[in-house]
This record gives sequence, C-alpha cells and structure tokens, in this order.
Amino acid sequence: MKLLFIGDVVGSLGRDTVKEYLPKLKEKHQPHITVINGENAAGGRGITEKIYRSFLEWGAQAVTLGNHTWDNRDIFSFIDEAKYLVRPANFPKGSPGMGLKYIRVNQQEVAIINLQARTFMPALDCPFQKAEELVKEAQKRTPIIFVDFHGEATSEKQAMGWYLDGKVTAVVGTHTHVQTADNRVLPQGTAYVSDVGMTGPYDGILGMGRENVIHKFLTGLPVRFEVPKTGRTLLSAVLIDIDIKSGKALKIERILINEDNPFYN
Ligand SMILES: [Fe+2]
Ligand SMILES: [Fe+2]
Repeated sequence: MKLLFIGDVVGSLGRDTVKEYLPKLKEKHQPHITVINGENAAGGRGITEKIYRSFLEWGAQAVTLGNHTWDNRDIFSFIDEAKYLVRPANFPKGSPGMGLKYIRVNQQEVAIINLQARTFMPALDCPFQKAEELVKEAQKRTPIIFVDFHGEATSEKQAMGWYLDGKVTAVVGTHTHVQTADNRVLPQGTAYVSDVGMTGPYDGILGMGRENVIHKFLTGLPVRFEVPKTGRTLLSAVLIDIDIKSGKALKIERILINEDNPFYN
C-alpha cells in the first residue's frame, strides 16, 4: 500500500497547487491513500468547510491540522461532522473534533493520528503520552497507523519518531514549512521525516509575503502577514510504501515540486 502525504497547504496558491499536481502525482505514484495537512489552507490561517470538501473532492482521504486549527471560525461549524478531518489529539479535553480517525481503503483500515509538539509552541497535553494511548487504541483495529506530528523543534520530532518506532507505520513532521532531507525508515519499520515541508508560495517566507516578514524583523513592530496570491509555487510531500500485513514501512521518499525541481511524469 502506498500513502501520499502533502505538507502544510498555504492559501489559495497552495490549494491551486494541490489541485494541479495531485492528479499528476496520483497517476505517477498510484497512492492508495492521500492525506493533506490543511492547517494553513484558508489564507494561511485555518481551514473552511469548503476547502476541506475540495481536498476530499480532489482525491484526499483525510486532512490533518495543527496550531492554526481554530484560526478560521468556520471550523467550529463543521469539525464535529467532518469524518476525515483530524486535529491535534493532545488539545485540551473538551476541544471540538478528534485526533484519531480511521479510514477504509479497500478492505484495509488505516488510522490517522495528528499530534502537536510543545517545544517553542503553546503548552498542551503531553504528545508522547497521548501518542502511546492512541497507538494502543488504534492497534486493536489496524497495524497501519500514520502520525502527523506538528512541531517546531526537530529534536522533539526525532524523539517522537524513535519513541514510536515499531509501533506505527510513519511519523512525519509538519509545521516548519521547510522540507528536511532526513527521510528514512527507522530500524523497527517506522517511516520518518522531520518535516515534509509546505505547499504554496515558493517565493515567500514560509509561505507568507516577504515584505511584511522582513519589516517585522527589521523593526520589531507588529505587522499583519499576508499570503501572496500570485507567483511561483512549490509542493512538498512524502510517499510511503507500506507492508499491509505488518503495518511496517518499506520506504519513504521525498517529493518536492518547484521551478528548481520540476515535475516529471
Ligand atoms: Fe503550517
Ligand atoms: Fe503549524
């Protein structure tokens, strides 16, 4: 089984890029399941129901989130009904939505878990303890368990990868918006990468317009970050090959599409 995961989709350019390349990636790699991180899909902040539905329409089976989960208030009107939307599981008890969902691919069930890290990020419940709890729960139903670990620090993400090695199919990092070159299958069969990278404006700063970000660094003044609506784009993803019987990963490949790394069929 092959799983395609597309990293943080930012704004309308990010959405357009998914719409353009997802069919091409599907044709080339034939993934059985596609998961998209959509935490920045609505103008860089959060996600709307319309965008969530368009991701499913374009061929995703699940959408994960992160620290921007609540940024667009539309989320509160649909998260409880959105079957394939997964928000960080270690948000405080009582938060809307869920951090573990199951999707069915042919006869196979796949568990999708989203967790958020804590280093240089808001204080949340312990992602490691939450991971252990959810993995135990998911293992009762399926050996195929995918974890999107949304975090800033590579150390915390590597720690999660090793902590879950052999217990889950994959731990992939999101949130930094920059793809890391450390993709590997850990010794016990868990695919790992510190960060998948982002999908959206190629010439921005982490997907935001450069001018305002530079202005903020120069002056320290509060500025509003805007997502560019035109310009060059990039798509960042990983493709994971899975042994369905054991749930172990066989291979994890990085995908990066931009003008410097063009897409070939
Ligand atoms: Fe993000
Ligand atoms: Fe994030």
